[in-house]
Amino acid sequence: MLQQIQLAKTDLVVPLFVDENLSRTRAIASMPGQVRYPLNQIGTLAEDLWDCGLRAVLLLGIPRKKDASASGAFETNGVVQGAVRTIKSVVPEMAVITDVCACEYTDHGHCGIVGKTRYGTDLLNDPSLELMNRIAVSHALAGADVVAPSCMLDGMVGSIRSVLDDEGLEEVLIMSYSTKFDSAFYGPFREAAESGYAFGDRSTYQINPANAREAFLESQLDAGEGADILMVKPAGFYLDILAEIATLGLPVAGYQVSGEYAMIKAAAQRGWIKEREAVTESLISIKRAGADLIISYFAPDVARWMDEKQ
Ligand code: PBG
Ligand code: ZN
Repeated sequence: MLQQIQLAKTDLVVPLFVDENLSRTRAIASMPGQVRYPLNQIGTLAEDLWDCGLRAVLLLGIPRKKDASASGAFETNGVVQGAVRTIKSVVPEMAVITDVCACEYTDHGHCGIVGKTRYGTDLLNDPSLELMNRIAVSHALAGADVVAPSCMLDGMVGSIRSVLDDEGLEEVLIMSYSTKFDSAFYGPFREAAESGYAFGDRSTYQINPANAREAFLESQLDAGEGADILMVKPAGFYLDILAEIATLGLPVAGYQVSGEYAMIKAAAQRGWIKEREAVTESLISIKRAGADLIISYFAPDVARWMDEKQ
């Protein structure tokens, strides 16, 4: 009765890997219990999640082809676009959020267009903005309720907002990966989404974990550019930052990332910690810090535990 924070199913967002190359699910070794789904299972999966009381998904696509310009990312019949249309036709009220990035679609694995810079080959900000605009519009036209640009480009939210508005898509929300750290905890994701990079790293566009002021500023800038929802990623190691960003007044999402999932899962599988208790504690902590939404690979498990007798 006196517990301050309660987790609710409506706090949770379920990340889903959809792979255009599959006809059956495929396990993700570094994320035990997680799989990539084929497009033909997305409809029934969405229905099952809805029946569990879950109301939001975040789609991450693995395309058939990769190239330097990430052309698979903005095709009308691309993997994410297809998954959005399927989910919206089966459970129209499910909130469908799409990850807008290029790292799964580029042959070099970086998050946008790369080219020569003063310091060597690296991500090019402005050409990548054009690419993100096209990806976001294609997701929104397919029916996405929320687009979630995750590339950490300068001016990205403002740029996407203005093309969405020009296309008559004013009602589509933007959930910016506004404060995204250059984190080692995305490791398992790179196997899950086949998005490991061929050279360099992401430290030129993701935030140094030691920089609190910059982390706040990045979310503040995105708020000013018209973001509807801000995000801190990873969540668990950055709760101080999340609490500060919540003071900006916009809804905030915390993303419990692949490495956070894998650590809890691996320890639990060895019997070193209790999975349900550890997961619940981790998510309660993210909410306590000020998150309105929690993106977690554990979401379906948590929904199931909520339905079980205490
Ligand atoms: C795409 C993207 C990444 C994640 C979500 N969207 C990879 C990255 O930023 O390097 C990571 C999520 C996770 O680790 O669970 N850019
Ligand atoms: Zn990316």
